[in-house]
Amino acid sequence: MADEEFVVTPYEVRGPVDHDRLREKFGAERLTPEILEGIRSVAGELHPLLRRGIYYSHRDLAALLADHARGRRFFLYSGRGPSGPLHTAHLVPFDLCRWVQEKFDVPMYIQITDDEKFWFRPHLTRSETARWGWENLLDLLAVGFDPKRTHVFFDTRSIAALYPLAVDVAKKVPYSTVRAVFGFPPSQNVGLVFYTALQTVPCFYPSWVAKRAVPCLIPCGIDQDPHFRVTRDIAEGLGYPKPALLLSQMLPGLLGGRVMSTTGDGRDNALFLNDPPKEIDRKIRKAFTGGRASVEEQRRLGATPEICSVWAAWRSKFAPDEAEFTRITEGCRQGTLLCGECKGMLIERVQGFLEEHRARREKVRDYAASLIIDRPPEGAEAPFPPTGGAPASSAGPDGD
Ligand code: TRP
Repeated sequence: MADEEFVVTPYEVRGPVDHDRLREKFGAERLTPEILEGIRSVAGELHPLLRRGIYYSHRDLAALLADHARGRRFFLYSGRGPSGPLHTAHLVPFDLCRWVQEKFDVPMYIQITDDEKFWFRPHLTRSETARWGWENLLDLLAVGFDPKRTHVFFDTRSIAALYPLAVDVAKKVPYSTVRAVFGFPPSQNVGLVFYTALQTVPCFYPSWVAKRAVPCLIPCGIDQDPHFRVTRDIAEGLGYPKPALLLSQMLPGLLGGRVMSTTGDGRDNALFLNDPPKEIDRKIRKAFTGGRASVEEQRRLGATPEICSVWAAWRSKFAPDEAEFTRITEGCRQGTLLCGECKGMLIERVQGFLEEHRARREKVRDYAASLIIDRPPEGAEAPFPPTGGAPASSAGPDGD
C-alpha cells in the first residue's frame, strides 16, 4: 500500500501522490524555514500558501533571494494551458505571484498556452482553446496584478515575439529528452514534442530584450517541474540564467481524490470560477470530509482535517486569517465544529469571493488585450528593415 506507485508529469497524474517522495524523485529542494525567513524579511509577513506548507519545494530560490538583497531584480513567470473554465486550485500560483509582485515590486509574465491543450486533447478545437484562453486570462488578471507591470504571452497571438527564442531553445533539446521527461509514446504529435520550447521562452525573454541576465522566478505546481528541468539544462548553454522555481503541492479534489483535476473525475470535483451560487452550494454539500459516521461520534472523537476537502479549501484560500484558520482546524479536531456547519460557512465564503471576483473580472476587460505581447521588441532581432521596406543591404543568399 505505502509503496503503491504514482506517476506525475505535466500531462498525467496517476496513483496516490506522495509529495515528499515526488520532490525527491524530481530532485528539487525542500523549502526550509531559513528560506521562508528570507522571504519574510523582505515582505514583512508570509503568504498563507507559504506559511502553511502548500508551497513546499524550490530550485535555486536562496540564490535568487540573495541576488535580490544585492539589488538584482528578478521577474515572475507563470502560466495556464486553457481547456475549460478555471477552478479555485488554478489560482494557487497566481495568488502567490500577485503577492510577490506587490511585496517585491517586480514584473509578472503570464503565458496562456492556447496551443498546448489543443495538441494534447484529441477533441478540443483551436477556437475552443483560444476562447478559453481569453476567458482564463480575464480570471487571472482579476486576481489583481498591476497592469503596468504585467505582460502576457498568448501563444497563437504572441508567436512572432516567442518564435526567435523558441528556435534557439528547440535546437538544444534532443527528442530523447522530451520522450524521457514527458513519457510521450511514439505516436505523440510533434506539436506537443515541440511545445516545451515555447514554455521555456518566457524564462529568457526579459534577458533577451534587456541584453543582460535578468533572473526569473516561476511559482507553479510541482507537476510543471519537468518542463523547467529541460529549461534549466539548456539555459546556460544559450547564455541565460537558469530560472528559479517555487513549487507547490497539488490540492485534493472535492470528491476526496488526491488532486483537484476534473479530467477524470468530472465537474463536481472542483469549484469553478464560473459556477453559479447554487452549484457552489450543491458541490460543497456533497464534498468529501474528514467527518465521522454520526454526529454523536464526531462530538465525542472529533474529525480529521488533514483528509478533508473542505478543510483544504480553507487552508489554501478561504481562511487567510491565521486566527480564524486555527479556530476552524481546532473546532474540527475537537468535535465542536460539525461538518454541516463548516460547509455552510465555506459556501458563504466562496460565494462572496466569486461575486467579488466577477466584478474585478469585468474591470480587467478594458485593458487585458493591451497586455499581450505580439511582436519582438525593436532591435531584438538584428537585420530586419522596417515593415514593408526592402532589405537595406544584401547580405547575399546565405549571409552567415
Ligand atoms: N503547462 C501549463 C499548463 O498546463 C501552462 C504554463 C505555461 C505554465 N507556462 C507556464 C505553468 C509557466 C506554470 C509556469 O497549465
